Amino acid sequence: MNYISNHNLELKGKKVILRVDLNVPMKNGAITETSRIEKILPTIELLIKKQAKIIILSHIGRPKGKVVEGMSLKPISKKLSSLINKEVLFNKESISKTTRAEIEKIPNGSIMMLENIRFYKGEELNDNEFSKKISNLGDIFVNDAFSCSHRSHASIEGITKHLPSFFGLQITKEINALKKLTSEIEKPITLIIGGSKISTKINIINNLIKKFSNIIIVGGMANTFLKHTGKKIGTSIFENDCKNLIKEILKNAEKYNCKITCPVDVVVANNPQYKGSIKDIDEIGNNEMILDIGPKTILSIKKIIDESNTVLWNGPAGYFENPNFEYGTKEILEIISKKTKSDKIFSVAGGGETVAAINKFKKLKSLTFVSTAGGAFLEYLEGKTLPGINALNQNV
Ligand code: 3PG
Repeated sequence: MNYISNHNLELKGKKVILRVDLNVPMKNGAITETSRIEKILPTIELLIKKQAKIIILSHIGRPKGKVVEGMSLKPISKKLSSLINKEVLFNKESISKTTRAEIEKIPNGSIMMLENIRFYKGEELNDNEFSKKISNLGDIFVNDAFSCSHRSHASIEGITKHLPSFFGLQITKEINALKKLTSEIEKPITLIIGGSKISTKINIINNLIKKFSNIIIVGGMANTFLKHTGKKIGTSIFENDCKNLIKEILKNAEKYNCKITCPVDVVVANNPQYKGSIKDIDEIGNNEMILDIGPKTILSIKKIIDESNTVLWNGPAGYFENPNFEYGTKEILEIISKKTKSDKIFSVAGGGETVAAINKFKKLKSLTFVSTAGGAFLEYLEGKTLPGINALNQNV
């Protein structure tokens, strides 16, 4: 099989293109959470041991095919270097005819990271010429980015058409854990969904209704639900043009007997710099912004978790990075981890922001499984074939 862990795979002097997900949370140019970097270290160490020339490809953010200064991978290459205790050459130049020659020159067992792959239009378009261009840089391709494998992008899917392609160690671990979860899942199943990537996830809710007993909606996602069901949400973030979709979600929830729960109270502030105040959902002022869930909502979430056998969680309940608005996310985590520890539930959490929250509150070991993936994790739960994984399976 096409696994990088295969002992017979000779990689000495081979140029290995390694796609990873270094889309880590950043604030003012500094990395605030490093789980996604740490998780790929075993694959890089294996490639170093096998004396390959490692070319790292990743994206950060959504620069939409343009060079955006604040979305450079340079700070991340430095962090990787300090974590792996080895030089990571950062190649900030655009990929050109000379890039391959530069890679040829690096010694076996060394690492070169290229600049944000989403600076190129061809990446998200999965353009065949661009896929060919990046494939020309190496001899083999390794995907270790499970969290990006729901994207049909050139460095995930297209490239596999041009190179022998392999599963990395981390992606294999994530797939195995999620396979186990989906085959052994016990009802009642509760999904807690929140966070700020609303447009990516709102469609997924509609497909998950058939599988789950409860869907608890928090964070930015809840604002969208509240807004389109006629509530005043002041200046809170929300997604436009979702009214019909939300109607459909609510109709389907009834049809399939899935209970949808939205916040009944929240923590609001005029400015996230100030301390918030607790308000019932009908009391939000025009200049107020929802930044966390309130105590009544937390209590109802606890009740639902108490009655569940499986809890899946993607997306924080509020602006947990700010101590004034961390309470809801922290409490959800506390409830899930207590129930997991006493063997009452099977718990799985996933997503960049969610992992950052779990790390912040030091609960990484308190859940049954923590996935680095957000969107990919949800699409996997939907039962969808992820294009990145499908491409590796076809490449045998
Ligand atoms: C993620 O953070 O889930 C992955 O890096 C994918 O990012 P995307 O949603 O911008 O494609």
